[in-house]
Amino acid sequence: MNHIILIGFMGAGKTTLGRRLARALRLTFTDTDDRIVARVGMSVTAIFDQYGEEYFRELETEMLQELLEEKERCVVSVGGGLPMREENQVYLKRLGRVVYLRAGVQTLMGRLGRDKSRPMLKGGDLRSKIEELMAIRQDTYEKTADLIIDTDGKGFERLILEISEKIS
Ligand code: S3P
Repeated sequence: MNHIILIGFMGAGKTTLGRRLARALRLTFTDTDDRIVARVGMSVTAIFDQYGEEYFRELETEMLQELLEEKERCVVSVGGGLPMREENQVYLKRLGRVVYLRAGVQTLMGRLGRDKSRPMLKGGDLRSKIEELMAIRQDTYEKTADLIIDTDGKGFERLILEISEKIS
């Protein structure tokens, strides 16, 4: 399929940039977290609290399977942990071009500093949490991506230009 899929760490800008990129390319936009929240009728935090992470991860895989049935080309942003399941990596590749929005810890700290909506970052020191998770995820993000975009210090306009030039 020919979708454009944005992957990357929480706070990398997948959703915000995804919306803008979709508008610029005249495509529709969808986000796996939004789909899950709409499906279950609960926030991501509430799903984690009530049913646990594994249940949420199952839902992520289901969302990818559903997307594979949808024909209209779109920009898809996926939750930061979604590419970690091997099965999901296969689905992502099937869905289209996978773009990794890479961001440094400092940038992520700035964006996630006051965030309360991300259960994976709960408790403890934010920098250590980010560094710990990033150490586990970075290779997978890089390996799953067809295109890696460094986002630090770049505005949306520039990022949209970079992505659209490299993906057509
Ligand atoms: C998660 C990232 C979140 C959301 C959930 C788990 C993760 O999405 O799916 O809180 O494990 O990195 P964003 O990357 O859009 O914040």
